[in-house]
Amino acid sequence: MFYIGIDLGTSGVKLLLVDEKGEIIRDATREYPLEFPNPGWSQQAPSLWLDGTSEALDELLEGIDKSQVRAIGVGGQMHGLVVLDENDNVIRPAILWNDGRTSEETAWLNSEIGLARLTELTGNIAFAGFTAPKLLWMKKNEPELFAKISKIMLPKDYLVYWLTGAHSCDMSDASGMLLFDVKGRCWSKEMLDICGVSESQMPKLYESADAVGKLTADIAARFGLSTDVVVCAGAGDNAAAAVGCGIVGDGRCNISLGTSGTVFITSDSFSVDPNNALHSFAHADGAYHQMGCILSAASCNKWWMDEIVGTKNYAAEQEGIDNLGENNVFYLPYLMGERSPHNDTDARGAFVGMSMDSTRKDMTLAVLEGVAFAIRDCVEAARAQGIKIDESMICGGGAKSPLWKKIFANVLGIRLTIPKTEQGPSYGGAILAAVAAGDFASVQDCCAKWVTISEVVEPDAELTAKYEKQYRRWHTLYPALKGFFKGE
Ligand code: XUL
Repeated sequence: MFYIGIDLGTSGVKLLLVDEKGEIIRDATREYPLEFPNPGWSQQAPSLWLDGTSEALDELLEGIDKSQVRAIGVGGQMHGLVVLDENDNVIRPAILWNDGRTSEETAWLNSEIGLARLTELTGNIAFAGFTAPKLLWMKKNEPELFAKISKIMLPKDYLVYWLTGAHSCDMSDASGMLLFDVKGRCWSKEMLDICGVSESQMPKLYESADAVGKLTADIAARFGLSTDVVVCAGAGDNAAAAVGCGIVGDGRCNISLGTSGTVFITSDSFSVDPNNALHSFAHADGAYHQMGCILSAASCNKWWMDEIVGTKNYAAEQEGIDNLGENNVFYLPYLMGERSPHNDTDARGAFVGMSMDSTRKDMTLAVLEGVAFAIRDCVEAARAQGIKIDESMICGGGAKSPLWKKIFANVLGIRLTIPKTEQGPSYGGAILAAVAAGDFASVQDCCAKWVTISEVVEPDAELTAKYEKQYRRWHTLYPALKGFFKGE
């Protein structure tokens, strides 16, 4: 018996074929580009997701007994605005989670509706990447296109629609729209009104491991699959990654180092960060979580390696770096502005502190450390609420680097655990699919049976103390540069 987990990411789509014991049988990936039509803008044509998934699915299914595929689950990049017309055709490229074009609309929501009212209605304040400000932006800047909107969806929901013909959304992903009452797990009528849309334009809400339907006859025929294959509602990629790492239940933490970087803290009950630095979202296990998100994480290293250093051999660049905690070069990772905790679309990257003897390795280390310091900011926002974090799972592409894991363990001063299946969202998608198929009692039950730990990275007291000082120094940089970033 097989389950397919899909991670609909920002730079590509990743598919996993998983058997009934949770073993990964095969994976397939397709990359696709992002468009940056203006500085700080970020969009993508949804057709790329379908083309990439089709090609990867063909590869994944090549030579296997397709009658054994039971269910499909998708985790996807969050917050992206996908708009369909009355014939379910895509109206414009999706405006993605790391797009900063809505600074005016975000500021308007936060000042005119107000932080307190937004928090009451949705559990959250407005951030530029969230979906509601994007609707306001479309209404103002593309009124003819806005008038054509018949359905509003998130990226992975468009994939689920393609597979099943159903318009669905799960609670974890809906949480990032600022149109959803997270505590009550329903659309917020007042927020829909504020954005000039109605509930009939919204997809139907489900819990992540609920089945929303089965494959359409066309899709089943195209891929040689049965029309009995169940498709579940899926989850936002961070909730799916947490599930894939077994981070379900109360008081657990997962750090994801992908294009973005997130700190994901689970909770049995709904709670709001009084400073709104962390988001208050629903979890894919039926409960809740708080999350901090930095917009550029592993993407900082990718940018530094690909664009500036000019290499694809990231591991070779990290070899021989031995001055951890003693680097004189500091780096701010705000290449796309920053979400948590600053909520500042104008923030940008910076290297500070170089001298004539600074080396390429010092700068490489500064990039890795700068991202870890920015994640520490999110961890501190949780600690300020009295949330204890002494251990975390870590997953995502960046977590493949032993050096970066060591830096993280010591910058955060916590033990890091690494799951055997570090695929995060796609593995979480497979777990949600297996639950939706009725093969496990709950998400928790499947996680307990499938997820195991492969490695533990302990912090070292001496290095943690050095990093404490380095973090305090780094922490003064953003306030010092904030006015500069604003053009003052
Ligand atoms: C979370 C967020 C990112 C995207 C990345 O709020 O915006 O982590 O989900 O795909």
